[in-house]
Amino acid sequence: MASPQYVLVTGATGFIGAHVVDSLLAKGLRVRGATRSPAKGEAMRAARPQHTDSLDFVQIADFSEPNSLSDAVQGVDAVIHVASPFTYDTKDNEKELIIPAINGVKGILAAAANVGTVKRVVVTSSFASVLDADRKDRENGNYFTYTGADWNPLTYAESADPATSAVIAYRGSKKFAEKAAWDFMAETKPAFDLVTLCPPMTFGPVAHPVAKPADLNESNAMLWKVATGEKPLPVARVPFWIDVRDLAQAHVEALLRPTAGGQRYIPASPERFSYGKAAQIVVDHFAWSRESVVPEDQPVDESHGVDGVTAASALGLNYKTFEQTVVDLVGQAKKLDEAK
Ligand SMILES: NC(=O)c1ccc[n+]([C@@H]2O[C@H](COP(=O)([O-])OP(=O)(O)OC[C@H]3O[C@@H](n4cnc5c(N)ncnc54)[C@H](OP(=O)(O)O)[C@@H]3O)[C@@H](O)[C@H]2O)c1
Repeated sequence: MASPQYVLVTGATGFIGAHVVDSLLAKGLRVRGATRSPAKGEAMRAARPQHTDSLDFVQIADFSEPNSLSDAVQGVDAVIHVASPFTYDTKDNEKELIIPAINGVKGILAAAANVGTVKRVVVTSSFASVLDADRKDRENGNYFTYTGADWNPLTYAESADPATSAVIAYRGSKKFAEKAAWDFMAETKPAFDLVTLCPPMTFGPVAHPVAKPADLNESNAMLWKVATGEKPLPVARVPFWIDVRDLAQAHVEALLRPTAGGQRYIPASPERFSYGKAAQIVVDHFAWSRESVVPEDQPVDESHGVDGVTAASALGLNYKTFEQTVVDLVGQAKKLDEAK
């Protein structure tokens, strides 16, 4: 596989996508970001004056309706598809989460297949498409480890049920979008290959345009709640996580390493997290937090693990510590809070 020169990144103005853009630019690659908002694209470019020649943006439509992404892929030789709705603040889960996630994947793969120049597509899936919340070994008390071979058993009907929570619907959105990608590959056999990444909760400093902590993305907003003394502390649904900088590197390596083609990886730190641990890190590092933040010894689920080692060795990752991640995000968010 010839090394790509010009890469389309969808979701480029979001939390993970902006780090992916920066990691690609740092490797000397040309990047086109896709966004619904030209203003956000301009803000990203303005914040990177040294890269104005190698970073451009294209406007795309919302994925709530199937639409063509053929303009976005013109001239690129690789795609990293990060964009997908990630919010639990919804009124209609199927319309706002599930359908756009699937439409986005189908639209980008169809466009990539049509343009003919694309050699590889990397899709940001999620550990949500791996997790089986009712897994049997759990009931039997047997330790198990999730790998890239595991799939969330949720049915479409369960995840789209109007009575279900946005959390379950989001898990369905990621599962059915990723499945649509692998089905597309099997049915269409395009000229490119596919890599999917299934990261768990992703935290860390932001590189996309965020004016104030209230604008933080869903996952980092949880850490900021901890740092601002929310009581009781939030409880992690899953004890697995990754730093956004490690995840961005995983995307770039998944794009560049020939051996990654056709693989499904779970980039995940070997360290487990809880919001109780996050609170302890915050009080240890930030004097301003000590009046309001009360660390709790929250139980951390040790009944099962996740295989982040396969992704680390295949993609050359060296996972950051939870302490570094929390300190870097909370320190940055505090500065934004003071400047607002
Ligand atoms: N953060 C995590 O903990 C985490 C963990 C595992 C996987 N993921 C996955 O990583 C990806 C990025 O997440 P993130 O945390 O970076 O979220 P984010 O900051 O909300 O970024 C998502 C981006 O996707 C685009 N997008 C969202 N809904 C869309 C829609 N309906 N139509 C078109 N574009 C849409 C938006 O771009 P514009 O507004 O510029 O159009 C947005 O910037 C998602 O696929 C998410 O499922 C996230």
